[in-house]
Amino acid sequence: METLEQMEITSLDELITSARATCSVPYWTSRGDWQGSDTTDVPHVWRWAQLRPQLAAAARLLPMEEAERRALLFCNPGYGGKPFATSSLLGAYQLTKPGENCPVHRHTPSASRFLLEGEGGWTTVEGEKCVLSRGDVVVTPPGAWHDHGNDGSSDIVWMDVLDLPLALRLKCNFFETEYFEVDTASESKAPVSCLSQSERVVRDYSPTVYGTGGVMPRFVTHDRSTGSPQFLYKWKDTKVRLNALRDFEGSPHDGIIVEYINPVTGESAMQTLSFHMQLLRPGEGCLLHRSTASALYSVVEGSGYTEVEGKRYEWGENDSIAVPAWAWHAHVNTSANRDAVLYSVSESAALRKLGLYRREGRQLDGSIVRLD
Ligand SMILES: [Fe+2]
Repeated sequence: METLEQMEITSLDELITSARATCSVPYWTSRGDWQGSDTTDVPHVWRWAQLRPQLAAAARLLPMEEAERRALLFCNPGYGGKPFATSSLLGAYQLTKPGENCPVHRHTPSASRFLLEGEGGWTTVEGEKCVLSRGDVVVTPPGAWHDHGNDGSSDIVWMDVLDLPLALRLKCNFFETEYFEVDTASESKAPVSCLSQSERVVRDYSPTVYGTGGVMPRFVTHDRSTGSPQFLYKWKDTKVRLNALRDFEGSPHDGIIVEYINPVTGESAMQTLSFHMQLLRPGEGCLLHRSTASALYSVVEGSGYTEVEGKRYEWGENDSIAVPAWAWHAHVNTSANRDAVLYSVSESAALRKLGLYRREGRQLDGSIVRLD
């Protein structure tokens, strides 16, 4: 019998068959397959009213020691049960009871927390204890040691967003738990293994040093980690800025939108993830737009819907909405007298660095303009 090498190819069909048998494909038969993306995530809304009772049940039924993290990971229906919210983002609702904590660890994926409910939840990042109130954002850059807990008197729930699916795709997902600190009380001053970090800077360091913008202390060192030296972004500060901007025309595609930035460089708050807060004034409807980055939204205030590829996805407070990359979408505040405020995380910061970020918007006349 002839081997593959000995067979003479006499037609293009035979060539295609032969190529497939050797795990290759002729370019001219596959040209159309490369546009857009190869991901299969779809728009989806995780409803707070449905998932919050599940978290309560987990709090009732499962001790933290067994759960490790009492989190409900968002599974995009397009991924058949995999815990990916979008092609690049992992999202979750996580509940921590009073007195519980999660041991110190670090990892290569960029991570963020956005507090939805309760007071007293905290994340210590590289020795800075960031205590969260509703709407506050804390970021943990790649490789930054962090531990979590709840010093309050009631359960806290936050939304986690990590770029873990992106890190997995790039085969860069590493996780470490062996953390050491020097025991200053001991004679030997030898490093000892610790489950939590000691506080090494004053409480509210990030908002105190960087929070107001416009001025920068010149007596502190700003290179505490990769990415932004600011780890905690307070909702009360962002809210002041949104309200101050509310009488501006804003963006026809995003309303009054602000980005959380690295205060030293002016770039996105993380190397790979970017964070936005947007105000949609009563009755405001935005124009359709799309970008090469996927996004995960959390509804801070109000109610409305997001149209994605022609379909409406209604949302209310604390719901989380996945918008896949390159999907046409537009947000609408359906209330005639209440603001709607949306928080969002996307991997656009990573795509910008790679030269892969692209954003387009539709104008009122239906024509398409390049936005970024
Ligand atoms: Fe973590």
